[in-house]
Amino acid sequence: MRITEAKFAGSSVRAALKPSRKLPEFAFIGRSNVGKSSLINMLCGNSKLAKTSSTPGKTKLINHFIINDSWYLVDLPGYGFAKISKKEREELRMMINDYIQNSDEMVLLFVLVDSRHDIQKIDLEFISGLGENGIPFAIIFTKGDKLGPNALKAQIEKDKAILSEQWEELPPMFVSSSETGAGKEEILEYIGQYI
Ligand code: GTP
Ligand code: MG
Repeated sequence: MRITEAKFAGSSVRAALKPSRKLPEFAFIGRSNVGKSSLINMLCGNSKLAKTSSTPGKTKLINHFIINDSWYLVDLPGYGFAKISKKEREELRMMINDYIQNSDEMVLLFVLVDSRHDIQKIDLEFISGLGENGIPFAIIFTKGDKLGPNALKAQIEKDKAILSEQWEELPPMFVSSSETGAGKEEILEYIGQYI
């Protein structure tokens, strides 16, 4: 799968308000600052497509990007951002859940996990909710450039072991780096199977 064209297609606050043209959607979720927007930019080869920031809580809406005029990549706000009011956090949580539960076009949800640390409780809880609701997902370990190859491998093995306590069968998994472009081919090829 090659991306030849990627364009912003609209921001929304719930599934009912997303772009009206129905096409397959591949969405990105994960803790705030894990690198969702950067990964979308890396996959599209355009560093200015989705807005990124070194401070968490940058993406606050559901952003659709239309790819090759035939499918969407969807940038979601992050979960688990502590420095906002309880009300704002609840609104984001509802926005994310509404999108995930009411988007019939969503083919797959990529759950991003920071490759530098143990997968966190909030990630495990989120993933467990996906299982309960039968939402198809894959995991992407982000920021793969930040650890050396051995440390990275060890950390991912550790995360797999943690996930295996909850899951009999592990979901598809990828390692990415928005800095080096690692993972791009694999992720796009995986998406390509569904298009
Ligand atoms: P929210 O929209 O706030 O939920 O964050 P996000 O998950 O979209 O993260 P974003 O893409 O804005 O990236 C957060 C920070 O991490 C930025 O400073 C990025 O430059 C950095 N970053 C993202 N991906 C990578 C990566 O693969 N490697 C490195 N070294 N830094 C990364
Ligand atoms: Mg973002």
